[in-house]
Amino acid sequence: MLTTTIHNEDLQGTAYQAPQQANKIYTKYFYIESYGCAMNFADSEVVASILQQEGYGITKHLPQANLILVNTCSIREKAEQTVRKRLTEFKQYKRTNPSLIVGVLGCMAERLKTQFLEEEKLVDIVVGPDAYRTLPSLIADADTGQKGVNVLLSREETYADITPIRLDSNGVSAFVSIMRGCNNMCSFCVVPFTRGRERSRPTSSIITECNQLYLQGYKEVTLLGQNVDSYNYDTTNFAQLLQLVAESNPKMRVRFSTSHPKDITDAVLETMVKHKNICKHIHLPVQSGSSRVLQLMNRTYTREWYLQRVQKIKELMPNCAITGDVIAGFCTETESDHTETLTLMQQVGYEMSYMYYYSERPGTLAQRQYADDVALEIKKRRLQEIVDLQGLLSTKSNMADVGKTFEVLIDSTSKKSDLQWAGRNEHNKVIIFDKSDNKLIKGNLVKVLVTRANRATLFGSIIDSY
Ligand code: SAM
Ligand code: SF4
Ligand code: F3S
Repeated sequence: MLTTTIHNEDLQGTAYQAPQQANKIYTKYFYIESYGCAMNFADSEVVASILQQEGYGITKHLPQANLILVNTCSIREKAEQTVRKRLTEFKQYKRTNPSLIVGVLGCMAERLKTQFLEEEKLVDIVVGPDAYRTLPSLIADADTGQKGVNVLLSREETYADITPIRLDSNGVSAFVSIMRGCNNMCSFCVVPFTRGRERSRPTSSIITECNQLYLQGYKEVTLLGQNVDSYNYDTTNFAQLLQLVAESNPKMRVRFSTSHPKDITDAVLETMVKHKNICKHIHLPVQSGSSRVLQLMNRTYTREWYLQRVQKIKELMPNCAITGDVIAGFCTETESDHTETLTLMQQVGYEMSYMYYYSERPGTLAQRQYADDVALEIKKRRLQEIVDLQGLLSTKSNMADVGKTFEVLIDSTSKKSDLQWAGRNEHNKVIIFDKSDNKLIKGNLVKVLVTRANRATLFGSIIDSY
């Protein structure tokens, strides 16, 4: 299920559920499956909108599809392998329906371009992240047997005028894309090559989308970008955008991701302090605790700079949750660099982290400049140490919440019991509690007292509703 937790590992490989298509009869249907980060998932909602305009209904039943689309991710080698494997599973549908069109979208399409058509014979169209408006014509060509590729990147495209169709939505939380691309060139990262130059979406179109979501009953938006802090449209920066979004619907929760440690400003932090509806949670990926490795990663900050930013956050918002991303075993990483990552994690006390071992990506600065010289077993061992430490930090943080009350936005029934609700507090922690009051529905805000906790989840009981 698509949740507001917006990270690649969390979202990988989700097939969308068909939303309400009441009163509409479609003669053709598309099926879309998305991999990778929240931005890819948000893009699939743009694609759905473009295709519905073209008369395609959405299906979650593969045999019903005339068009199968896979929105792909290239961030690590494993992400690409997953997609390759999945593509082979579509062969059976092509066998029974020779007119079926299979399209590959997203970052892998952008990275591999025409090579994809050569390597994966069953693929008919390959479309990069900035070329989705050309999908209808590429599909029309494919209908006549002509395979097609459009991987042109754009300096302007933000799909600002396209109202995304909320796929697999819980009706409570929605992603709102505020920018595309990335100019940062972290040496390990393929995103600048697959997503192109950074560009910000017009402020007014972001506010309009948030207002529409509010009117449709959504209670939470997450503003999305690879580096939200560098949002800049005309004279509006990210702090100002955040303020505008928070003030336009004060009853709607606002989240954002991802923040880059070099760019997050005091003005953003002060805006968070000023607005109750901006959730006190910052996803602030560090990648490494060693300044030497950070320099090789081209992250453009040091360990000390990062810790100063964290200190400032804690000064202004002692209650703010901080989560991160960590890479184990980047080129030249020594045991002492790795130890620095562990000590930094301890110092910050992350509520949660996404943790990976380094995967060399073709064409990146690191691939061209440095040897991928940390042995796989060492990468895996270091990653395990990072994961184990994060387990301890998450448990400690969750145990410290026992006895506290939180405002929780109910977003679903608990996966484990129909008799319990699941929701998130402003720190983005999941809280499970009994459905004692059967007047409550998804989207309600309730006050919950935390009575117990484990590493991943808080459990509690409702003490009030709003
Ligand atoms: N723009 C965000 C940032 O800079 O923090 C996130 C970008 S990326 C989509 C998500 C995470 O994947 C990164 O923060 C990093 O930890 C991880 N990642 C990116 N490239 C990687 C690679 N080559 N190997 C392993 N992990 C990688
Ligand atoms: Fe990749 Fe760095 Fe851009 Fe994040 S900021 S998307 S890690 S290049
Ligand atoms: Fe996202 Fe993967 Fe592309 S993380 S930007 S879908 S490479």
